[in-house]
This record gives sequence, structure tokens and C-alpha cells, in this order.
Amino acid sequence: MELPFAEPYKIKVVEPLRRSTREEREAWIRESSYNLFKLRSEQVFIDLLTDSGTSAMSHNQWSEIMLGDESYAGSSSFFKLKEVINNLLGLPLFVPTHQGRAAENLLFSAMLKKGDLVPGNAHFDTTKGHIEFRKATAVDCTIDEASDTSLYHPFKGNIDLGKLEQVFRNNPRKKIPLCLITITCNTSGGQPVSMKNIREVSNLCQKYGIPVFFDAARFAENAYFIKTREKEYAQKGIRDIVMEMFSCVDGATMSGKKDAIVNIGGFLACRDKVLFDRISMYCILYEGYLTYGGLAGRDLAAMAQGLLEGCEFDYLESRVRQVEYLGSLLRGYGVPIQEPTGGHAVFVDARKMLPHIPREEFQAQSLAVELYLEGGVRGVEIGALLADRDPASRENRYPRLELLRLAIPRRVYTSNHIEYVAACLGNIYERRDKIRSGLKIVKEAPIMRHFTVELERC
Ligand code: F0G
Repeated sequence: MELPFAEPYKIKVVEPLRRSTREEREAWIRESSYNLFKLRSEQVFIDLLTDSGTSAMSHNQWSEIMLGDESYAGSSSFFKLKEVINNLLGLPLFVPTHQGRAAENLLFSAMLKKGDLVPGNAHFDTTKGHIEFRKATAVDCTIDEASDTSLYHPFKGNIDLGKLEQVFRNNPRKKIPLCLITITCNTSGGQPVSMKNIREVSNLCQKYGIPVFFDAARFAENAYFIKTREKEYAQKGIRDIVMEMFSCVDGATMSGKKDAIVNIGGFLACRDKVLFDRISMYCILYEGYLTYGGLAGRDLAAMAQGLLEGCEFDYLESRVRQVEYLGSLLRGYGVPIQEPTGGHAVFVDARKMLPHIPREEFQAQSLAVELYLEGGVRGVEIGALLADRDPASRENRYPRLELLRLAIPRRVYTSNHIEYVAACLGNIYERRDKIRSGLKIVKEAPIMRHFTVELERC
């Protein structure tokens, strides 16, 4: 008999969870204006809001917390992290930042001006926020296959080279300071980018003299997909693949809260010394001195250890298989999901699940509220609320996909938790025709409204 799969770790510390009643949840979600960000964590049973900063650190990482050097300048923890970044990613220059969006802030402060264009594959919301805040435009060049959730494509994060070249051809070089490849592509469903595509994008950018950067939050999961889906890489180690990926780019922003398996932290790494000097100036201004960048020394040390653990094949396999397991259970219940499942999350297709609710009533957010009411499970909307309004017309933007993301923290939940989540959605699928109306906005912020939006039932 083939032995079943089992996680390559055991649990040393546990955190109690409490189940609530449906009546309690009805009251809590109403008090939270149907915005799941406003719930208190005790009001949530299984929290799949994000995989960012919510993962479980290993005992080796906790040891690093104790070993952290809190010197203001020249901390040994900084040099530990520098060595890992140099050896793992091959990028020679870096500054720590307090998280990924802080790295974006430094990069765009140094490179972007009003009217610029930043082409890439479905930029993450904070990335788009930073670009639009500077009156520049994020141009989405993701392949069309990504917006057909039922279509199987092994690399739905890929950039369409035709679309990218069109942006390069139709605009002066000086208006395109960089191209950004997000690995894996969160917005299109945690979908990977193939090595072939990374290389082709890099070559095209080189031809037009445009620097290319990674948004590298989930680079290790991307490397796992390259190994398991791109034939030429089947025999290669994750670290070799990672090195090859980064050899194609000029630099990267990183949210350590994902694939570096820490609760806080990030960095910005690059090759060009002139750019690095500009970045360093902004780092001191916004984050802190160059050897701590807004973090405690202990956070730098835990991130160094986490980067190494995050690239271990056995760990990555158990992580991605857990996400796949949730996907397979949902499929079994008939719940429509983005196929194939991504690296960090399963994305439920809310347009297919609740087709009778108009898009103006926020289908994916309505589904997120239903899931919370059903079993105290918190997911997050990746749809029209998140897409926000067009900066010029201020009209709602309706993206091609209305998704409910179930992001799975690393090394946190067991198979029982996964089965519970799937059963909740299975129940909702059964009674989906009885969900008659969606939600409307009562109050919204001028930018990145989804975090603070207030809604009521239609
Ligand atoms: N880039 C990507 C692809 C991300 O997914 C995130 C964060 C960031 C950048 C920003 O990093 O949070 O450290 O400032 N994503 C989280 C999520 C918040 O839930 O997907 P950060």
C-alpha cells in the first residue's frame, strides 16, 4: 500500500480556538458593517483572511528571535540576513523594510513619477495603490487564460508577451521605469509564472532597455510549481530554480510575511548601485537606518532562517498539497473554484456560485459574509470592492473575476480544519438559490476602500 502523505513537522505549541453560534456571528458581522476586516480575531473560528504574517514559525526561527542583535547600526542579524539573500537570490544589495508594501514605497519613490506606466501581471492591491497614489498607471498584461476559472493552465500568472510589447511600443521608454512580475500572482489566484515566461519577459525588457523586478512575496511557492509543472526543471533543486529565477531580474520587493514565514518583515534587493543609493535615502527617511529598516534585529534573524526553511522541498510540498486538498474537497461538493488551485490559497468563483446576485451587489463579498455566518470562517473578497473605482471617472471597476480567497497560513491548520471549511462551503452551495440579495456600500475611503468599507444588506 502506498503510504499517505504527512506533514514534515510536528506541533509543539497550540493556541485554543472557540466556536461561536450563528446568532453570535449574525450580531458580530452586522456590528462590523459586513466588512470582515472589522471582526475581532476571537470572533473567527478558522481565519483564512490571509497567509500574510499568520504562519507558524519553527523552533529554529524562535531560537533566532532570542539570538537577534538589537544594535542600531551593523547588527549581526542584518549580516545573517544579507548572507542568506546574497546566497539564495544572488542579489548583492538590499535593505530590510518593515513589510512588503514598505519595499514598494521605497522602490516607487526611487523610480516612479507622475504619468508613468508599470506593466506586469495583475499587480497586488498595495502595489497598485502605491503606483496610483503617484498618479501613475499599473498595466495588467496577464494572459487571457487567467480569467477563465474553469480552464486548466499550469502557469496562469504568466505575462502575455504581445500585450507587454504593445505597451513598450506605444509609449516612450522614459514613461516605463520598470516592469513588475508578481510571483506567484496573488490577484489571479496564487498562480505561478513559468521559468520560460520569466526569461522571455526579461529578454523583452532588455531589448527595450526596461528594468524588470519581481514582487517576490511567494517566490518559493512559484519555484515549487516550476519544479513540478515545467518538465525541464523536474530534477532541479528548489534553490537552483530560485537562483535561476532571480538571475533574470534587476531586483525584487519582498514581503517576508509570506514565503519567509515570519510575522513581520520584508526587504528590497537590487543589483544597480546608483538605484540602491536612491533607495537607501528613502529607506532612512521612511523605514530606518540601512541595517534594520523598520525591524527589530530579532525579526531580521527570524526572516533569514525562514527564507531557508521556506525553500525546503518537503515543506513546500506539504504546503501546496494542503491547498490542493481544500480544492479537491470543494470540487467534490460542486463549488466552482479557480483551476488549478494556487500556491497559497483556493479562490472560489463567486460569479458562478451566486450568478443571481447582480455584480453591483458585490457577489464575492456576499459569499464571504455567508461563509462567516455558516461556520465562523473568514476569507477575503478579491473582486469589485478590492478593484475600487477608476481613478479618473470614480466609477466602480468590475474586474473579470469575482473571487472569494481562502488563504491558508503556513503550518497552522490541520486536515480537519480544511475539511470543516470545505463542508461550510458545501452547505452554502446546497442553499445558494436561497441567498437572494447582496450588499451595498454605505461608506468608503478614497483609496484602498476594502479595508475600511462599511456595507449593509440590499
Ligand atoms: N505583494 C503581494 C503579491 C502580496 O500578496 C502582498 C501582500 C504584498 C505585496 C504586500 O506585502 O502585506 O507585507 O505589505 N499580501 C497580503 C495578502 C496582505 O493578504 O495577500 P505586505
